[in-house]
Amino acid sequence: MAGGKDGKGRPAGWRNPFSTLEWRRGTGGYVAMIDQTLLPATQKVIRVDTLEKMRESIRALRVRGAPAIGVAAAYGMVLGLRPHAGKGARGFLAAMERVADRLAGARPTAVNLFWAVDRMKGKGKDLLAKGLQPRDVLARLLEEARAIHAEDSSQCAAIGKHGARLLRSGSCVLTHCNAGALATGGMGTALAVIYAAAAAGKKVSVFADETRPLLQGARLTSWELQKSGIDVTVICDNAAASVFGEGKIDCVVVGADRIARNGDTANKIGTYGVAQLARVHRVPFYVAAPGSTFDPLARGGADIPIENRSPDEVRQGLGKMTTPRGMKVHNPAFDVTPARLVTAFITDKGIIRPPFRKNIQLVLGW
Ligand code: MRU
Repeated sequence: MAGGKDGKGRPAGWRNPFSTLEWRRGTGGYVAMIDQTLLPATQKVIRVDTLEKMRESIRALRVRGAPAIGVAAAYGMVLGLRPHAGKGARGFLAAMERVADRLAGARPTAVNLFWAVDRMKGKGKDLLAKGLQPRDVLARLLEEARAIHAEDSSQCAAIGKHGARLLRSGSCVLTHCNAGALATGGMGTALAVIYAAAAAGKKVSVFADETRPLLQGARLTSWELQKSGIDVTVICDNAAASVFGEGKIDCVVVGADRIARNGDTANKIGTYGVAQLARVHRVPFYVAAPGSTFDPLARGGADIPIENRSPDEVRQGLGKMTTPRGMKVHNPAFDVTPARLVTAFITDKGIIRPPFRKNIQLVLGW
């Protein structure tokens, strides 16, 4: 169905065949989310109804992907503040700081987490300053979290719309990690571009890097693209160079966890290598991300904290021992692609081309 839109601004022809996460019921409710650690073997929806469960879900990657982490953290603020709604304003305010810190400590790299927590905190403080009682503030904070979720969904659709214009019919796209509906509150960032192009009637195929060590590409990207009927082929990360060499890739589209003012981009470990391959093979390298992934406080990549995860993710990859017992392991979860390797950013506000330092500010209205 070329060109049309559904009621939520998404391209007609694309329907999410699953719900990544959603808040159910009122302030006494909970978040129902797909436990992404179990995919693709098992599609299980878990109930997350406390602050600590939400923190653990983010740390353990049951919910993952920068925008989805932001949405989850916003709901996490409601879960964490709920037990304090009977307190006075001062007690509630103090609890807000503690809950925010607890969530912010879950993972360090995706800036959407901090962005969402700060927005929720700002809203809560405003409402308390206006004299609202904590119980009413809690109800308004749930509305705010739902608004963050809905905005993320429309931003994904806008990214898809802008990005789809960059793909010709017949394009073959390489992506790394998972930047799809599983990673956001909507249709994804990098994968939104593919979904929107397909919905507009273009024939698009995808190579998904498997994305060691936790296989977000092999487990998640392939799962959701297959469910949406997109032609997808999984490759081992170390097959990417030869696939580029065979001239099979027309462009790369990836997501991002944090983008600095100068355009340096943190994304899943291995992205930097893919960007270099794209440059050597003269293939465009696009980064798709909403405004909430750009960090005005990071001047460059050196300001982006990189998460180091447990060595056991590498020692016992695929559920089996994959190194000798006790082997030294270096396991950074993200790397930084220098801005000079990025062809353009695909954002909800439009395409941003170099010079990035100037154009990011201009397009995002900083
Ligand atoms: O460790 P993860 O699975 O949370 O890493 C996710 C990524 O690196 C994604 O590419 C990024 O968050 C963009 S998601 C739209």
